[in-house]
Amino acid sequence: MPEHDGHFDTDLDGAEIDRLGRPLHDLRISVTDRCNFRCHYCMPKEVFGSDFEFIQRDEILSFEEIERIARITADLGVRKFRLTGGEPLLRADLPTLVEMLANIPDTEIALTTNATLLASQVDRLASAGLDRITVSLDSINDAVFREMNDMDFPVAMVLEGIDAASKAGLGPIKINAVVRKGINDHTLIDLARHFRGSEHIVRFIEFMDVGTTNGWRLDEVLPASDLVALIDAEFPLESIAPQYEGEVAKRYRYRDGDGEIGFITSVTQSFCSSCSRARISADGRLYTCLFAVEGSDLRARLRDATSDEELRTFLSSIWRERSDRYSELRSKATGDLEGLPRVEMSYIGG
Ligand code: GTP
Ligand code: 5AD
Ligand code: SF4
Ligand code: SF4
Repeated sequence: MPEHDGHFDTDLDGAEIDRLGRPLHDLRISVTDRCNFRCHYCMPKEVFGSDFEFIQRDEILSFEEIERIARITADLGVRKFRLTGGEPLLRADLPTLVEMLANIPDTEIALTTNATLLASQVDRLASAGLDRITVSLDSINDAVFREMNDMDFPVAMVLEGIDAASKAGLGPIKINAVVRKGINDHTLIDLARHFRGSEHIVRFIEFMDVGTTNGWRLDEVLPASDLVALIDAEFPLESIAPQYEGEVAKRYRYRDGDGEIGFITSVTQSFCSSCSRARISADGRLYTCLFAVEGSDLRARLRDATSDEELRTFLSSIWRERSDRYSELRSKATGDLEGLPRVEMSYIGG
């Protein structure tokens, strides 16, 4: 019997189902493992410094290879492609990939970006068929933000990207902030205030133990429930229903009608029971969990004589055999799985 206790919308009927009853719905596609930021929690300079071996060009999936996987997964139930990285806008000619994916029927295309390169690319992305943008912005306080990205990028540059995306018709934009106790938690109310009354939706993410390089500690996690209380005291909130089954963020609205805000409770209240996401790394490995240790090599199959039908059978068997629920297991253990190898966030795309 599947352990999943929710139920899914009828438009997911026909999707591939895993061992816990969860349909395949989202494909997160990492298009590069490089980034122009060095966020301490994701790509610390000590590890991702000058001699770090990023994935080499010939190891990276071509747009044609990505499109082929995307088409097959759409056939297996995927309705949303999210382009991630590293920083996806560092991948040359990304609008061409968007255009190719936009031809796949009944799917939407979203992008997660730090927005520093967005202003110059957003018009082309929008006309190529990009549907939505999520921007990572951990603080509205310039000094805190510069310290967190560790490359001295100013907040203003990100805000410019957000404005340009809005003008290109891609609003409302989701703004993701990773919360780290003692680092940016004193600036979060200001972040909420800044976007209150705009169409944009700020979402606070509990800091997770992804990868092995970010020195994660449970005592650095500010539980979303504390943060809800903090913000509610300043700007009264009420919770609202999810927009779709399996939505990661818990949604709230300001009681005075000044917009929406969200909380991603990755650590304190896991959402594995409705997790419908598969991920592919830039070098073509498929992961069925953000915390997976090993992926399945799709690139080798794309580059030998494997037919579409064989690929489809392979992908479908991986999803059917899936039983990942790392966050659920971790919260029961109240700590991380210390010492176990895990892939890095910048590699798997968050
Ligand atoms: P939409 O609801 O389509 O807007 O997007 P999303 O919330 O699925 O994607 P987004 O990239 O905005 O996710 C926000 C953050 O939530 C990610 O960057 C991760 O930090 C976290 N997250 C997303 N998916 C998962 C997941 O499957 N497991 C865990 N543990 N965290 C996730
Ligand atoms: N915990 C939570 N979120 C993280 N992100 C990167 N590393 C972590 C982590 N350890 C977020 C980024 C971005 C998204 C892709 O993932 O800030 O919003
Ligand atoms: Fe780059 Fe995003 Fe990682 Fe920061 S969190 S280093 S912006 S990929
Ligand atoms: Fe999905 Fe794994 Fe995250 Fe659970 S921990 S929600 S299974 S990606």
